[in-house]
Amino acid sequence: MRVRKLSLTLAAAAAVAAAGMVVAQDQEPIQPIAPPAQINLGLVELGKKLYFDPRLSKSGFISCNSCHNLSMGGTDNIPTSIGDKWQQGPINAPTVLNSSLNVAQFWDGRAADLKEQAGGPIANPGEMAFSHTLAIDMLQSIPAYQREFKQNFGKDKIDIDQVTLAIAEFEKTLVTPNSRFDQWLLGRTDALTAQELAGYKLFKESGCIACHNGPAVGGNAFHKMGVVQPYKATSAAEGRSAVTGQEIDRFTFKVPTLRNVELTYPYFHDGAANTLTEAVDVMGRLQLGKHFTPDENAKIVAFLKTLTGDQPAFQLPMLPPSSDATPRPNPFK
Ligand code: HEC
Ligand code: HEC
Repeated sequence: MRVRKLSLTLAAAAAVAAAGMVVAQDQEPIQPIAPPAQINLGLVELGKKLYFDPRLSKSGFISCNSCHNLSMGGTDNIPTSIGDKWQQGPINAPTVLNSSLNVAQFWDGRAADLKEQAGGPIANPGEMAFSHTLAIDMLQSIPAYQREFKQNFGKDKIDIDQVTLAIAEFEKTLVTPNSRFDQWLLGRTDALTAQELAGYKLFKESGCIACHNGPAVGGNAFHKMGVVQPYKATSAAEGRSAVTGQEIDRFTFKVPTLRNVELTYPYFHDGAANTLTEAVDVMGRLQLGKHFTPDENAKIVAFLKTLTGDQPAFQLPMLPPSSDATPRPNPFK
């Protein structure tokens, strides 16, 4: 199993460390991603089904995986998402990978945790456009779901808390350990090339690390977009001030994780930067007042690409079929 293999990897790394090789981990401002701990496997299996089940949407077509595609770094790779009836979403979909490490969920942090977040999209008219009641009716009409919920929660009635708990438990497994950068942190000195290491050095010395740090290389704080120079966004989102009501939080966003950033293009809350080269250039100028040369930029990009870890590996869940009593989807009205 995947989890066991990963802990063996860590054990192997620890053995390398014990053998006296350089271990930088303790001094570095970025820490390795740990495999998921204390996971309820039954709940994960249920949550995985729900994550992939488009019947939680009005159209019967949109699942969590539509916008957070686990074959594409947990994102949709488009500037802003497509919701019910092809509606254009207001903001870029962040990755679900390593989202359990976030200080809060959403760009403005308006959901405290994954469980609270998971209720949002199902009932959001611009996303899955369903309601919690309709979602429960759908699940309750399918005997195999009834049984699986009962096995996990011991109750006859399904409720939305059970649904969001299960999805959140599955999301906790979506961590991506064992990137080349983490191998380097854990003591494999040859895991990075000289160019990648030079990029990491620039990332630290230029000041990127002040905001992008910790295991997720971000996700743990809110900061202004456009510290030195203003950012002209193509989206109307105002950032954290929408949650706090404080003027000082205007245009402050959760610092995105840079884990797997090679896979999660396009970048920024409005999805306006198509490439890492562009994102690094904008960050340098707007956040730090630094103009990187093409060579410096390429080094930082090379470093960022070492943050791609093992992607979640599991069998696609088979969803239980609808019963005669299951309400039918409504894709076009
Ligand atoms: C129509 C596209 C769409 C669907 C469907 C969708 N999401 Fe999202 N998701 C988004 C967008 C866009 C955001 C960012 C919204 C914001 O920050 O205001 C987001 C944010 C999130 C976040 C927060 C990540 C972070 O770093 O802040 C998580 C976790 C998440 N979604 C999980 C889910 C789950 C679980 C489902 C299914 C129940 C789901 N999403 C369905 C588009 C979608
Ligand atoms: C003052 C804090 C701060 C500093 C310093 C900073 N960033 Fe950021 N970074 C952010 C915030 C906030 C965002 C999200 C901005 C937005 O989307 O509007 C972000 C976004 C990014 C993104 C896009 C990620 C995504 O998924 O959309 C990349 C890549 C990035 N930063 C790299 C860097 C690099 C490289 C540096 C150093 C040159 C740097 N950052 C310096 C706060 C910072």
